[in-house]
Parts: sequence; C-alpha cells; structure tokens
Amino acid sequence: MEEFRPEIVSFHFGLPDQVLVRRVKAAGSKVISSATTVAEAVWLEDNGVDAVIAMGYEAGGHRGNFLTHDMATQVGTMALVPQVVDAVDVPVIAAGGIADGRGVAAAIMLGASAVQVGTAYLFTPEAKIAEVHLTAIEAAGDDDTAVTNVMTGRPARGVINRLMKELGPLTEIAPDFPTAASALAPLKAAAEAVCKDHFTNLWAGQSARLSPRLGSEELTRRLSDEALAVIAKFSFR
Ligand SMILES: Cc1cc2nc3c(=O)[nH]c(=O)nc-3n(C[C@H](O)[C@H](O)[C@H](O)COP(=O)(O)O)c2cc1C
Repeated sequence: MEEFRPEIVSFHFGLPDQVLVRRVKAAGSKVISSATTVAEAVWLEDNGVDAVIAMGYEAGGHRGNFLTHDMATQVGTMALVPQVVDAVDVPVIAAGGIADGRGVAAAIMLGASAVQVGTAYLFTPEAKIAEVHLTAIEAAGDDDTAVTNVMTGRPARGVINRLMKELGPLTEIAPDFPTAASALAPLKAAAEAVCKDHFTNLWAGQSARLSPRLGSEELTRRLSDEALAVIAKFSFR
C-alpha cells in the first residue's frame, strides 16, 4: 500500500491492527470497510475509517460481519442504510441488492453518499468469472441464492448449489475460514471440468436478475443516468 498509494483501501471483516491502518492512512489512502449492523458501523468509525459501507443482507459474496456471527439477525439494506446514516458522521456507501438506477436512487434517498455494486458487474465481459458461475447467475431469480458457510468457512451469499443443499447452507461443521475452500479445491476442479457447479462459489446477490447485460463502463454510466432520471421524476419544482 505504501508503495502504490491507492486513493482508497477497502477492508472486509473489520480492520487490521491499528498500527497498520495508521500506516495506510499516512500513505495518503482513504480507508473504508463494511458494516452489517449499526454496532459495526460505529466501531469502524471509532477505529478511523473515512467512510462506512453499509452492507445489507441482500449482498453477494462474503458477509463483512465481524462483531456478530449470527446470520439470523443480519439486516436488509433498506433498514440498515438509514440507521447507519443516523449513527455515524462519516459518509455511508450503500451495498446489497442494488443493480439498477432505481436501487441507486433509493439508496441516495435513504441518506447514502454513494453505492457499491457487485453482482451486476459479474455480467460484464471484464469480470473473469468461471463459465459455471456465469451460467448460474444468468438463471438466478430472486430466491435462488442463500447465505452459506460451506464453501469457505465464512458466511457468503451465492447461488444455491449441490454442496449448499446437501451440507448447509449454514453448518457448525464447516472448517474455519478459509480452509474449507482448499479442502474443496480438487472436487471443484473435477466438477468444473465436466461443467458442473456442485463445488464452485457461485457468489451473487438477490438482485442478479435485475442486472443489465452491459460492459462495465456502460453499466456504470447507466446506473448513474438512470438514478438521476428517477430522482428528477420526483423533483416537482
Ligand atoms: C463475486 C463477488 C466477490 C466479492 N468480493 C469482495 C471482496 O473481495 N471484498 C469486499 O469487500 N467485498 C466483496 N464483495 C462484496 C461487494 O463488494 C459488495 O458489497 C456486494 O457485492 C454488494 O451487493 P450486490 O452483490 O447485491 O451488488 C464481493 C461480491 C461478489 C458478488
């Protein structure tokens, strides 16, 4: 980080040791990290982040949770974003289930300063995801994903596959993060060789079906233009 001095460094699962965070900030980078509850957002602010990502339960990929490990009480984006906005003074970035301009506009209405979109970018040609992953997300509807710990040992949202169905989606016997993934690697490779997604991380959020099929630049412009159009529609003066 000190060598390349990126403008922003984004952490997940809380923050590393304070000494390291201070060094990243001293190199001139802004530090951001994900919160899945108000308590995590306040902790991140107290520990020096420049902005908080409010990551709702709809989001694809690993949950950013670090103070709580209870998946039954994780909060949806619509409820999380305004409560985090009320609780912290730093800017809030909304994440989870946002895949078109309506979602961006809604997040801004809830007080977010920006949005972080993941799943919609998986459909862009720039995303080099496995063929079985692309096939799974292209077919995924609103209720085809679940939060599981069987793939890596930490809870993450992905399209439901055979392993999640047979062992999970959540189980106490999953090996600790990230060792579950290495144990699965040979099975994953063998299954993918015959186009089966039984052991592949099919990370995706609940809004896969909303995602327009565009290149990443066009998608970014579309999200912004559509959001501005939605907001303009409700500006009566
Ligand atoms: C395939 C995939 C990989 C991800 N990897 C990371 C990661 O390495 N670090 C991180 O902070 N968030 C990661 N995320 C979470 C995203 O940054 C973002 O919070 C999330 O995708 C937002 O929800 P959405 O998928 O509904 O748009 C990942 C998400 C996906 C779908």
